[in-house]
Amino acid sequence: MAVTDAPLHSALTALRDDQADTPKNMREAFKADPQRFAKFSLTDGDLLLDWSKCAVTADTMALLDKLAHAARLPERRDGMFSGKKINVTEGRAVLHTALRDGPGDTVLLDGKDVMGDVRAVLDAMAAFADAVRSGAAPGATGKKITDIVNIGIGGSDLGPAMATLALAPYHDGPRAHYVSNVDGAHIHDTLKGLEPETTLFIIASKTFTTIETMTNAETARKWVEKALGKEAVSKHFAAVSTALDKVASFGIAPERVFGFWDWVGGRYSLWSAIGLPIMIAVGPKNFRDFLAGAHEMDQHFKTAPLLKNIPVVMGLIGYFHRVVCGYPARAVIPYDQRLSRLPAYLQQLDMESNGKQVTVNGLRVTTPTGPLVWGEPGTNGQHAFFQLLHQGTDIIPVEFLAAAEGHEPELRHHHDLLLANCLAQSEALMKGRTLEEARRQMLTKGMPVEEVDRVAPHRVFPGNRPSVTLLYRKLDPHMLGRLIALYEHRVFVEGVLYGINSFDQWGVELGKELATGLLPVVEGTEDAARNDASTAGLVRHIHQLRAA
Ligand code: F6P
Repeated sequence: MAVTDAPLHSALTALRDDQADTPKNMREAFKADPQRFAKFSLTDGDLLLDWSKCAVTADTMALLDKLAHAARLPERRDGMFSGKKINVTEGRAVLHTALRDGPGDTVLLDGKDVMGDVRAVLDAMAAFADAVRSGAAPGATGKKITDIVNIGIGGSDLGPAMATLALAPYHDGPRAHYVSNVDGAHIHDTLKGLEPETTLFIIASKTFTTIETMTNAETARKWVEKALGKEAVSKHFAAVSTALDKVASFGIAPERVFGFWDWVGGRYSLWSAIGLPIMIAVGPKNFRDFLAGAHEMDQHFKTAPLLKNIPVVMGLIGYFHRVVCGYPARAVIPYDQRLSRLPAYLQQLDMESNGKQVTVNGLRVTTPTGPLVWGEPGTNGQHAFFQLLHQGTDIIPVEFLAAAEGHEPELRHHHDLLLANCLAQSEALMKGRTLEEARRQMLTKGMPVEEVDRVAPHRVFPGNRPSVTLLYRKLDPHMLGRLIALYEHRVFVEGVLYGINSFDQWGVELGKELATGLLPVVEGTEDAARNDASTAGLVRHIHQLRAA
């Protein structure tokens, strides 16, 4: 927040003062108010958000609403949708929402409707996806494509990889693989099980300069050329990029190149041609349902009053936990195995967007900004790091996600167990267990009193640990679209409250620049004299290990 931003500052001060009165004992808060769940949950169709297990009161929510208005959240939101150049450090509009707009929509950028181009690319993607899926676009020897390998990293990998896994029950096209890491092990292990004749590579890079992607793309091209000859390349490669000139010089046939635009940020790009591997895997119809779900969430975000607006409330609670309560992290725990890549996807979406230290005006922020985001699916996480969530010394708010229904009706018992575990964890975090309760439980089991005295403190759970739960009917393409758009908007809301630009990512640049300079040093063609002593020592050790 800019120090000069007086209304925002006084809204935050009021919130901090209010914190002294918010319920500290959540069990008591639930007992005292039978309407607590009704007051602090909301639905949008078959999606529910419950934040009643967070230490908020009606006053807290009213103050958060004021804070959102002081930060001019509605105006900022409308500015994004209307194509204002809100990414001020790159001079760009932020219009990924246009990618999921409906047939009748118009989105003007610099006075020109972008929707014609958006629809043309979507139609071209669908035609190509259908051709690959049906066998009408076979490999060089005429065999149908059985495997696609997406080569990309960051936003050109995480979104499609996450969504492909999430939509596994809808997957009726070629198998989809994702190679991102420049570590040769990644492409090596992926190609090991594949046949060049039936493999299609999609080179996905917004800039078409990312070293990891270009290195993997070269390796893939050599793999195809070695098996099938140079002429085969055109039948085994497609590309997705905003830099169409650079793609052309890689040698990919123009009809297999799908463009997008600089107003689509990398981490917001899975709705664009970057979604091509998802479309090939699940088919154009399911991909369009995915877009329609995101569009539905856009409408909700645009029109619902702030405290009835799921992304806004999630953003307000996120801000409350980070800035007012000072919690450094949040855990995202999908009780939905097919969302197992969601935490990794959200790490980029959230941390690359809101991990900033200056305001949109370049002033040093005066509050913390984005938290550390991490997680794993439940129930697996329960048997790994939940110990720390329940009894560790830091409070880490948790976000639970769960579907009321699975895709395997014959395995209903599994799903009931999954849901029981999800609900039990949020209840345990909230209720905890007192020393008295721990003692009573052990005494009832007949444990000797001395043993009870010794062990009871270890069995105490402090409780009052906040969590929110997102509950939905079923993880179908439409719901996945809604969930991902919800998270995008939540990140936007928090960014507005922090007063930062959520749409640039200068923090990734320094390491990239230094890596370029270090390559000849690692290769041994330049010495490390210009590097610091630690870096030089590490390089020396690498060379010694290689020589041994
Ligand atoms: O290094 C960060 C980043 O620029 C991300 O923002 C982006 O998603 C990723 O690299 C990949 O970039 P590109 O799609 O241009 O290869």
